[in-house]
Amino acid sequence: MLSRRHVLQGLAATTALGALPRAARAAFPLLDMGPSAAQIAPGDMAATDLWTFNGTLPGTEIRHAQGERFQWRVTNNLPDPTAVHWHGIRIENAMDGVPGLTQEPIPPGGSFDYDFALPDAGTHWYHSHAQSVEQVERGLYGALIVEEPEAPDVDADLTLVIDDIRLGRDAQITADFDNLHDRAHAGRIGNVVLTNGAPEARFEVARNARLRLRIINAANARIFTLGLMGLDGWVMALDGMPLAEPRKVVDPLTLAPAQRVDLFVDVTSDEAEAFLLHFDRTGGYAQASFTVTPGGNARRDAPKPLPPNPEFPIDLANAVPQRVLLEGGAMRGLAEARLDGEMLSGRELAQRGMVWAINAQAGRDATPLLEVALGQSVRLGMANDSAFPHAMHLHGMHFAEVLPDGGLGPLRDTILLGPDETKEVAFAAHNPGDWLFHCHMLGHHAGGMGSFIRVT
Ligand code: C2O
Ligand code: CU
Repeated sequence: MLSRRHVLQGLAATTALGALPRAARAAFPLLDMGPSAAQIAPGDMAATDLWTFNGTLPGTEIRHAQGERFQWRVTNNLPDPTAVHWHGIRIENAMDGVPGLTQEPIPPGGSFDYDFALPDAGTHWYHSHAQSVEQVERGLYGALIVEEPEAPDVDADLTLVIDDIRLGRDAQITADFDNLHDRAHAGRIGNVVLTNGAPEARFEVARNARLRLRIINAANARIFTLGLMGLDGWVMALDGMPLAEPRKVVDPLTLAPAQRVDLFVDVTSDEAEAFLLHFDRTGGYAQASFTVTPGGNARRDAPKPLPPNPEFPIDLANAVPQRVLLEGGAMRGLAEARLDGEMLSGRELAQRGMVWAINAQAGRDATPLLEVALGQSVRLGMANDSAFPHAMHLHGMHFAEVLPDGGLGPLRDTILLGPDETKEVAFAAHNPGDWLFHCHMLGHHAGGMGSFIRVT
């Protein structure tokens, strides 16, 4: 939670930077956060007002080679303070973009130079991390692609940033970002589903071509269930991290908020079209459509795995255990929890907009959930004692699920827990700093489901 106090301190502390003469600034490319608009509703309706990076939804697709330095200047032309988080990058803490934890917020009119190493190839993304339940909803997100040193053997590399937004009859994003009902239920679910900022995304592809689809769920709270039609493929990477063995896509794929999946798919359709579908209670819908043009011969070989990223081995036998109890929300509620050092009743908390807690703590205060020595391995035993799903995300380090057989699942940075579900994850605390740990259903985070882990 970004407190008013932090915002004001931030304003005082960073205005001086905004006043620096132009010549004193390095020539980083700009990522400008500001208002823009796009035609999202049908053409006879108004354009939708957005907040975006560099004027487009999603923002500029940033691509760098693995091992390069990321050096971009973020300028804030929004009416509110902000900061940008580079989701999925095992980044240095000061560049992580969490206002009040890793940096002061960037005030309106101010700027911040983000400058960090890119150790991992993969499909990552960036988004506002200030009042994110509003700022991400308004459009402040984009893809951050780090390319493998050697391009994998595909015919096309397509990024699909999927999202949903809630539009009113006037085609504008409804301003009920902080409403307690959304917070206490599944979060803010939109009524218009988008791919790359458009309700109907279409790509032209050749029959038998092999495509890399980089799918990023940038939605506030929607869990996407995805399927393929006329496409045949493999899961190559999850949350940016390559799988040691590509997995054939058979069942629908679940993509929680903030999660990514890299697929290699072959265009096998005999028809003029193929689809990426999303399923909901009422059926399957085209999330993206592919116009199929004549092409070459079918490939039958399974793809080779993507090259591995640097490894930080998890020492499960000597890992520090930590219980993580997720509570609150509609139906169950909170009996009581601490907020800013004070124990409050569920009713008092709700009056302050807080409806969720981690280990009986509502929202982040100065106390970490866990403090751990650099290099130590950690096991987080998470229990979702609520009636809603949560997409738990750890900054700065990827974790692996501890599977029932005692083995480790693939590395991820966000894991979905269904109602009443328990899951254990483990990670090596290889990255020093204060790392946010929160639900990526952004209303849940705003409503108290956020803490941090300190690695010293
Ligand atoms: Cu996508 Cu706290 O992050
Ligand atoms: Cu949640």
